[in-house]
This record gives sequence, structure tokens and C-alpha cells, in this order.
Amino acid sequence: MDIENLLVTGGCGFIGSNFIRHLLAKTGFRGRIINADSLTYAGNPENLSGVKDEFPERYLFRKADICDAPLLQELFAEYRIDAVCHFAAESHVDRSIKRPDSFIQTNIIGTFNLLEAARARGGGFRLFHHISTDEVYGSLGPVGHFTEETPYRPNSPYSASKASSDHLVRAYHETYGLPTTLSNCSNNYGPCQFPEKLIPLMILNALEGKPLPVYGDGRNVRDWLYVTDHCEAIWTIMMEGRRGETYNIGGQAEMENIAIVEMICDLVDELAPAAAGGFRRRLITYVPDRPGHDRRYAIDFSKLHGELGWSPGESFASGLRKTIRWYLANRAWSDRIRSGEYQSWIREQYGQ
Ligand code: NAD
Ligand code: DAU
Repeated sequence: MDIENLLVTGGCGFIGSNFIRHLLAKTGFRGRIINADSLTYAGNPENLSGVKDEFPERYLFRKADICDAPLLQELFAEYRIDAVCHFAAESHVDRSIKRPDSFIQTNIIGTFNLLEAARARGGGFRLFHHISTDEVYGSLGPVGHFTEETPYRPNSPYSASKASSDHLVRAYHETYGLPTTLSNCSNNYGPCQFPEKLIPLMILNALEGKPLPVYGDGRNVRDWLYVTDHCEAIWTIMMEGRRGETYNIGGQAEMENIAIVEMICDLVDELAPAAAGGFRRRLITYVPDRPGHDRRYAIDFSKLHGELGWSPGESFASGLRKTIRWYLANRAWSDRIRSGEYQSWIREQYGQ
């Protein structure tokens, strides 16, 4: 399938920016990317530094809020959008517990607006790929995996809003025949992840000698996937996936949180030995649990593997080492985020 004008939403975030780099440099995609991002606290144009210079004809950025329906209709017409890869979302569970409002607006209403804009394009529209999460399935006990047939049982405002958006995507395929694909992925990690999520937060706190806050007993399990493996899976589904279908994506890397935090401490000790004060494990601090904290996620991706041949390339041990090296080599990036400096820069460049 040839795509000429691909709208990527949320392309300045963690996965979206990795996806844009991957698509332009590592795949057979020859079209143009229009990156529409409203630049919330999680959107950082620095994640895409150098991309416009390297691909001046094939990449452009528009500051745009997916909650603004008329603006989306304009963008679709102006750039003759024939496909969408939809990342834009409020993505952090803890924030959704404190203030769910923007999760409802962006994740549900924003997705609805995009679906409507795509529907209005009529027959020229080729594909709407929706990026979603395994959290829509709820929590697992000690055994078993989520499959595409697992009933939805979201437990946080974040996962409930993502579940709602998934249902809308499915309905637009069934009702209007919109060509859609949908992927539900497990926890990602890698370069450019905002340092509120477990792995980058622990790396930076360990480097700075700050406490490492572990929720509850630290024995909740997530299934970790290196971000470029996710990007490859998304593109495979967009190119070869059956329309109207959902595909689970996972890393085959189940880990308890406390084991990850200990690995990070040991790797940071090795790669950036502390001047004084000894081993980083002493910074581990158990804190009260997250309300509604899902105990375990694990993904069965045999549908994606069986139909399209995808499987993850990176092991957790090598991916984590690579990630820590990236954060060590990019202290200026994280310093600008942690100090808030990146937001003043965004305001100067793009306005409020
Ligand atoms: P992120 O928080 O790093 O980035 C989100 C991006 O969306 C930011 O650039 C932000 O500015 C933009 N955005 C937010 N609201 C917007 C709006 N109203 N209009 C336009 N842009 C807006 O998120 P991420 O971790 O890169 O996640 C991307 C997608 O992948 C999300 O849909 C998330 O649900 C899904 N997902 C994430 C993970 C993970 O582990 N991070 C796993 C599975 C699925
Ligand atoms: O499973 C996919 C989901 O993974 C995505 O849909 C979400 O967008 C993404 O944020 C992520 O959600 P989690 O809640 O699993 O990720 P987070 O990094 O916030 O937390 C991972 C685990 O670590 C979780 O069990 C909570 C725990 N945790 C997290 C933080 C931030 C801690 O123990 N301490 C912390 O400080």
C-alpha cells in the first residue's frame, strides 16, 4: 500500500518521535509525514531535532490540538491526508488518577474528531491506525496472557479513556467501512521517554542520588518492549495487517518493578560510578501504592507473529543498557525537561 501524506498525531512525544525517525530512515516509506502535536508537557520538539534538516521535503510539523475539530478538517484537506497513525494521547496513569479531565478530552473526543476528519475524506482515505495499550484488558493473576479476545476491563481513567477510543475506532470500521487497524501494546522504554515513567525516572534519580520511589510491594509485573521494536510492529501492521483487525504487541519480557529498579541501580553504578556514597540500591524507597494498581500485564502476540511474522528484536537486558547509555549521553535533554526550560523554549518558538 502506498501512502502519500501520512498524518502522525503526537509525533513529538516518546513513541511518536521514535516512530517518525524510524519511518523516515529505516523503512520503504517514501511519502510525506505531517506531524500534528499540541505540545503538551509531554511533547518536546527536541525529540525530533535534525529531522527537518535531513528530510526537508518529507517532514513537516504543525502545532495542532486534536480536540479542535475544525482545525483537523482543515489539515486533512490542506495536506490531502490519506492515512493516519494516531499516537496523540494523555499517557500517564498517575496523572489520570489526579486529573482525568484532559484524558477524556484528548483520548476520547480527540480520537472521535480524527475519525470524523478521516471519514470526511471519503474514498481517497487509505488507513487509520490507532495506537493503544494492553491496559484496556485490566489486570492478570499470576498466570495467563492477554489475547485479542480478552474482554476489556480498564481500571484507571487513562485505560478507560483508551478503551473508549478503541471502541470508537472499531465502530467506525464496522459502521462506515473506514479502513482501520488497531494495536494494543505493552510497556515501552528507550530514548526520549518523559522522565515521569518508571524507567527514565529511576535512571535520572539514580544519577542524581535522589530517592527511587517504588509503589506498594514493588512486585507488580509489566511486559517490557524496546521502543523501536514497537515502531517496527506498527509499520508492519499498517502495511500488511488486515483492515478492521486488532493486533497485540508485547516484549516477552515480564519483569517485577523491583527487579527493574535493582537492575537500573547496578547498571548506573557500573556506567556512572558515584563519586561518594556507595551503591544506588540504597536509594530504593517503598512508597504508598498507586490506587487501582494493576498487578500484572503479559501479552500474547502470537496473532501478530503468526500472520505478519513480527517478533521483538531487543532483549530486556541489552535494551535497558542501551537506554541508560542514551540518558547518560543526553543529560542536557533531561536537564532541560527537569528544569522546565524546554517549555519556555516551546513558548518562544510556537506560542502558547
Ligand atoms: P507521550 O505522553 O510521550 O506523548 C504524547 C504526545 O501527544 C505528546 O507529544 C503530546 O504533546 C501529544 N498530545 C497530547 N495531547 C494532545 C492533543 N490534544 N492534541 C495533539 N497532541 C497531543 O506518550 P507515549 O508514551 O509516546 O504514548 C504514545 C501513544 O502510545 C499513546 O496513545 C499511548 O496511549 C500509547 N501507548 C504507550 C505505551 C508506553 O509504554 N508509553 C504503551 C502502549 C501504548
Ligand atoms: O502497559 C502500557 C502502558 O504502560 C501505557 O499504556 C502507558 O501509557 C504507560 O505510561 C505505561 O503505564 P504504566 O502505568 O505501566 O507505566 P509507569 O511507568 O507509570 O509504571 C510502571 C510500573 O512501575 C507500574 O507498576 C507502576 C510502577 N511505578 C511507577 C512509577 C512512575 C513505581 O513503582 N514507581 C514510580 O515512580
